[in-house]
Amino acid sequence: MRILLINGPNLNTLGTRKPEVYGTLTLDEIVARARARAEALGVEIVATQANSEGALIDFIQQHAPTANGIIINPGAFTHYSYALRDAIEGCDLPAIEVHLSNIYAREPFRHRSVIAPVALGQISGLGWRGYIAALETLVAILRERMDAAS
Ligand code: DQA
Repeated sequence: MRILLINGPNLNTLGTRKPEVYGTLTLDEIVARARARAEALGVEIVATQANSEGALIDFIQQHAPTANGIIINPGAFTHYSYALRDAIEGCDLPAIEVHLSNIYAREPFRHRSVIAPVALGQISGLGWRGYIAALETLVAILRERMDAAS
């Protein structure tokens, strides 16, 4: 089983970017924790981070055909990228949207996600642990679906 772990703009600066909001771990450290959990679960993670919308869409188009699910923190694209939303909807893979911060407790422009309607669900405000929760839940749901189909 292969899971795409996708991080959007500015998430490459985690560790130094507003640690009081996003925590002190770097993105590499978060991805390493997700990889360790994935290994224990017996699944593979293919991870990327990009600051541009096109690079994220290219990644989804390239890797979705050989993947089973997506975990994505779209960063600020969450709030306005219909192109990213279309890419997720179009690839037909179950996706879980993750935010380190609680977007509903922040500025009004962050309260709306254009990605959420095409996602299986959303985790917001649990810090780096949100990625682990997303991974465990996505793998459990995919395994359930595979069992039901066999
Ligand atoms: C974020 C929340 C977004 O509003 C923001 O633009 C980010 C990070 C989060 O993880 O909390 O870049 O997605």
